[in-house]
Amino acid sequence: MGEKIISGFSKLSKEEKIDWLVCTFSDQRAETKQVLSEFWQEDADLQRVLDGFSENTISNYVMPFGIAPNMVINDRVYAVPMVIEESSVVAAASSAAKFWMKRGGFRTEVRSTKKLGQLHFSWSGDVNKLREVFPTLENKLRTETAHLTANMEKRGGGIREIELIDFSDQEPDYYQLRVAFETCDSMGANFINSVLEAFGQSLQSFVATHSIFTDEERSLEVIMAILSNYTPECIVRAWVECPVAHLEHACKDMDATTFAEKFRKAIRIAEIDPYRATTHNKGIFNGIDAVVLATANDFRAIEACGHTYASKDGQYASLSHCTVENGVFKFWLDLPLAVGTVGGLTKLHPLAKLSLELLGSPSAKELMSIIAATGLAQNFAAVRSLITTGIQQGHMKMHLMNILNHLSANEKEQRAAVKHFETEVVSFSSVRTFLSNIRSSNGVLAHE
Ligand code: MEV
Repeated sequence: MGEKIISGFSKLSKEEKIDWLVCTFSDQRAETKQVLSEFWQEDADLQRVLDGFSENTISNYVMPFGIAPNMVINDRVYAVPMVIEESSVVAAASSAAKFWMKRGGFRTEVRSTKKLGQLHFSWSGDVNKLREVFPTLENKLRTETAHLTANMEKRGGGIREIELIDFSDQEPDYYQLRVAFETCDSMGANFINSVLEAFGQSLQSFVATHSIFTDEERSLEVIMAILSNYTPECIVRAWVECPVAHLEHACKDMDATTFAEKFRKAIRIAEIDPYRATTHNKGIFNGIDAVVLATANDFRAIEACGHTYASKDGQYASLSHCTVENGVFKFWLDLPLAVGTVGGLTKLHPLAKLSLELLGSPSAKELMSIIAATGLAQNFAAVRSLITTGIQQGHMKMHLMNILNHLSANEKEQRAAVKHFETEVVSFSSVRTFLSNIRSSNGVLAHE
């Protein structure tokens, strides 16, 4: 075991890191080294940019970058960039975009872009005294962080409400300052965390010096200062709606009324049952994450927040909802999305920069709309497939190419397989059998 432990790995050059890694952990040294090296050597300048994002980088990891065209959102047409490795996702978003394009497109409304942060602290003083002098404390907190907030305030943002929350009934001496922020077009994580850390020092000095507190109350321990990724007020609603009769072409084997009712029921199931809700929301996040990633936003933060929001009523449930009333089909999604279109990696990652340019350099609010509409499109397409043809038909057709690549099919074999599987069920073994049949029949396809 000892020979696999290293100290000072981060100090090694990229070549040294790779050498150590392949010598220690790879059975196919030359091959591993070549794969790791060829990605970063292909574009050393790009790799230098990526090296700045995280630590101990030895290469880069390539993902498909696709486009879902024809997304009409609030009467504006977008070609939405999506970074995702899963087959069918971009095709599904594109097909839903096209479907709704002819029915008024997607609508969105951003309620607010309020972000939250927390200063968690331990203090054994009298909380009533702290409440009494809270306006003075608040003033001190704002004044002593004015140097940090000045720029953000110029852009229309800054600190909003500061609230004292008493959790001492659940954990002795535990209190929290919950702070609301407006961070405009930036996600604002660094801004929020810097302000909160400064708040910690101001709070300590406040209780240490204010005359209302006794000597026993002068010591306060800051436990931690960090933003909350749960931002239930930084929320966007995306929706589509049309007369039920306009759903006539949603499925060729189902009339519009049957489709609308079956669709509504499928969404209702995800509102009732957490097992279905998890899969249902995963489908929504197929679309959300792909755009979040393409624009260099933090998909873990978005996911964490979305799933907490999905549990807000005490049970994990669907993020989307549907009604069919008075002959009108309505389908919508409410989702908190704390994203930025400036700062972070948005300009540093060349493809993220490009994605934002393709989207017309949107504000954070506009990007929230685009992301939510894409999530709703994804959800519509997935549920439409599930309640009609089933998901596997489209999925396995796309997956066919992956299987063919895995089995090293040449172009001619691929064309033959695509034709053959138009009417056959795709599975790994059926594709392998098909290939071995055509390869052994006369060897023509394999060698052309
Ligand atoms: C697959 O990635 C996503 C779906 O499972 C979503 C859903 O079931 O709604 C198809």
